[in-house]
Amino acid sequence: MIVTRNLVRTYVKGDVVTPVLKGIDFEAQEGEFVAIMGRSGAGKSTFLYQMSLLDDPTSGEIVIGGHDTHHMSAQQKMKFRLEKFGYVFQDYALLPDLTAIENVALPLLMQGLDRIEAYTKAGDSLGRINLGHRLYSLPSQLSGGEQQRVSIARAVAHSPKILFADEPTANLDNISSRAVMDIFLDLHKQGQTIIMVTHEEEYAKLAQKLIHLDDGKVISSVQHPTMRDVKDAEKPI
Ligand SMILES: Nc1ncnc2c1ncn2[C@@H]1O[C@H](COP(=O)(O)OP(=O)(O)O)[C@@H](O)[C@H]1O
Ligand SMILES: [Mg+2]
Repeated sequence: MIVTRNLVRTYVKGDVVTPVLKGIDFEAQEGEFVAIMGRSGAGKSTFLYQMSLLDDPTSGEIVIGGHDTHHMSAQQKMKFRLEKFGYVFQDYALLPDLTAIENVALPLLMQGLDRIEAYTKAGDSLGRINLGHRLYSLPSQLSGGEQQRVSIARAVAHSPKILFADEPTANLDNISSRAVMDIFLDLHKQGQTIIMVTHEEEYAKLAQKLIHLDDGKVISSVQHPTMRDVKDAEKPI
């Protein structure tokens, strides 16, 4: 589903050269839930931005679903992001003047769905994560946990190939964080590919694969059995 080879990202500003990613080889299979861990400044967000085509690497390869992204134009990348990816950020990134349902419907309208289709899908997506009673609330009228759930509803409303999340629980209390992780686990069970950055080990451990970044390099990669695999393993054949 997604492969990176010798991925390098170096920021250059005037005379200041900051190497941030120093050659990352990475692979995520379709349907996999991957957590990327590491201390602050390790390069986690930078790595996520390269993989999710929000930023261009200095060198190296990113292949997504068999497409070598190096050859894509900026416009092709934008289309890819809109249609194939969903994003969840630490600060929810909701538009403050739009209601929950309008926030979720907006990217669907941008993809060319008509109003009825977009609003039906948006309402369904919010309903699936138990926010059916909050459709017409503004972000300011919602708790942090609810806002993050709206942002997840927005990220998955168009059934993206890959859901990218950058520290989705960083601003939330334990209960809301757990609720967010339960939604991710549910989506994963339904086959959603998820790549999540977190510095919270407790949540990273829930993922199927755990990549540890330090100083712009992968220092470990651990594969866990999925919950589904564990259950299957317990079943007599
Ligand atoms: N636009 C930029 N210009 C220069 N340095 C940057 C830029 N973005 C990030 N960095 C540096 O790259 C390093 C990794 O940042 P980041 O990927 O945000 O780390 P993490 O998400 O793991 O906390 C940090 O030292 C940060 O200061
Ligand atoms: Mg970060």
